[in-house]
Amino acid sequence: KILILDFGAQYTQLIARRVREIGVYCEIWAWDHDPSEIAAYGAKGIILSGGPESTTETGSPRAPQEVFDSGLPILGICYGMQTMAVQLGGATEAADQREFGHAEVDLLVEDALLGGLSDHDDAPRLDVWMSHGDHVTAAPPGFTVTATTDRIPVAAFANDDKRWYGVQFHPEVTHTKQGQALLRRFVVDVCGCATLWTAANIIDDQIARVREQVGDDEVILGLSGGVDSSVVAALLHKAIGDQLTCVFVDTGLLRWKEGDQVMDTFAEHLGVRVIRVNAADRYFNALEGVSDPERKRKIIGNLFVDIFDEEAGKRANARWLAQGTIYPDVIESAGSKTGKAHVIKSHHNVGGLPEHMNLGLVEPLRELFKDEVRRLGVQLGLPREMVYRHPFPGPGLGVRILGEVKREFAELLAKADAIYIEELRAAGLYDKTSQAFAVFLPVKSVGVVGDARAYEWVIALRAVETIDFMTAHWAHLPYAFLDKVSRRIINELRGVSRVVYDISGKPPATIEWE
Ligand code: XMP
Repeated sequence: KILILDFGAQYTQLIARRVREIGVYCEIWAWDHDPSEIAAYGAKGIILSGGPESTTETGSPRAPQEVFDSGLPILGICYGMQTMAVQLGGATEAADQREFGHAEVDLLVEDALLGGLSDHDDAPRLDVWMSHGDHVTAAPPGFTVTATTDRIPVAAFANDDKRWYGVQFHPEVTHTKQGQALLRRFVVDVCGCATLWTAANIIDDQIARVREQVGDDEVILGLSGGVDSSVVAALLHKAIGDQLTCVFVDTGLLRWKEGDQVMDTFAEHLGVRVIRVNAADRYFNALEGVSDPERKRKIIGNLFVDIFDEEAGKRANARWLAQGTIYPDVIESAGSKTGKAHVIKSHHNVGGLPEHMNLGLVEPLRELFKDEVRRLGVQLGLPREMVYRHPFPGPGLGVRILGEVKREFAELLAKADAIYIEELRAAGLYDKTSQAFAVFLPVKSVGVVGDARAYEWVIALRAVETIDFMTAHWAHLPYAFLDKVSRRIINELRGVSRVVYDISGKPPATIEWE
């Protein structure tokens, strides 16, 4: 396995995902994680990530001395390379201009990391992705400058004897064409890691661990229909079969026919014990007269906990609660002591279980990134469309019906959304957008339906492209496609006389409307 020390870069999780894609397990620790644990961790190599700070500023982060004392191979990326330079006797310089984007790197020496890699026939040269302000001006003693560009003298350095390397560019982003090859060189050839981290192995390993953890006890799981809890359900079912009970709460605010689909997939096909709670009446009652989005979120969340507790309380033998916590949630809550952790969306896991039940936690996805969870899902036999579905917010249609939530609105919205998604899939556009959905606007607009004047509701369509859901562009869906969806929604749904398309980016708008 590989240890990644995080200096706070946007790309750190991407480094970890790339290393895992090669088939090598790795973990991300904050750069100021207790350094006495480094040797004991047993990694075969260490990667120092990029970061937003400047090594030229006093008090900026440094790699713990234990990293260099470990005798392990080291790869410094961007800031990680710069701090290696400073700590090992080289030099860095702050630039007045940042370099961001494509660059060509000339390879000077055939070292173990870059030797033989090239994107060009005429000369050893790489197409890479740069994102930095500072750069290294002098490699430390014992190091060779292995690459350069016309903007920076030291684009990479190497000490093959110690197996220490630094690159200024970002091998983890796909714009660096040989990035994955470079990382593979490091983790497989230099560090000697075996590539055993595959979906099949992860499943086998987790099955053994879960069996060991829970023995003959009963486990309960809140199954939402989302990717994470679905994969947990499939995995636990395979591990402990009948000892698993899932509770699926149908809130009436889910996607069209979602409740039936969940039952079909899990209860019918996989033979998982699923308790379906039809709670739509309770949700619509609780939400009556409430229009403030945050209050709606609270009511929906609290009611879910109440209902889940009621059902869990009936399973007197349950000793364990399973949750779909994934690795980004874990990194997020661990964070760095200096508070440089990235801000990501908080997850809505089940909280507030009855104290008297005293349940232990089973979290088989704690070590996995979303893309790994998806691969596990496919390997476990879950339908591809379910596993690669767009994200759906915990409060569901409750925040997609603006203002007060009513059953009639939820039904119209779920149907409009289903038409939209069906057409997106049919047009091959679903996987090209990161998230797409319909929104119900509680305003009436005049239209002509047939020969009669209609005065009916408005549906807004939203589709965004994003990598991290923190920023997003609206998707430029073809006019002909939007035209077809609009016609279908107005023709097929009584009660809608107008369809509009949302062309707002995030920021300033959010992805959801509430
Ligand atoms: P926004 O609207 O903040 O959404 O741009 C970013 C991502 O988060 C999802 N989202 C939520 N997910 N509970 C959730 O579980 C919520 O209350 C919630 N609000 C927004 C949204 O769908 C998008 O993917």
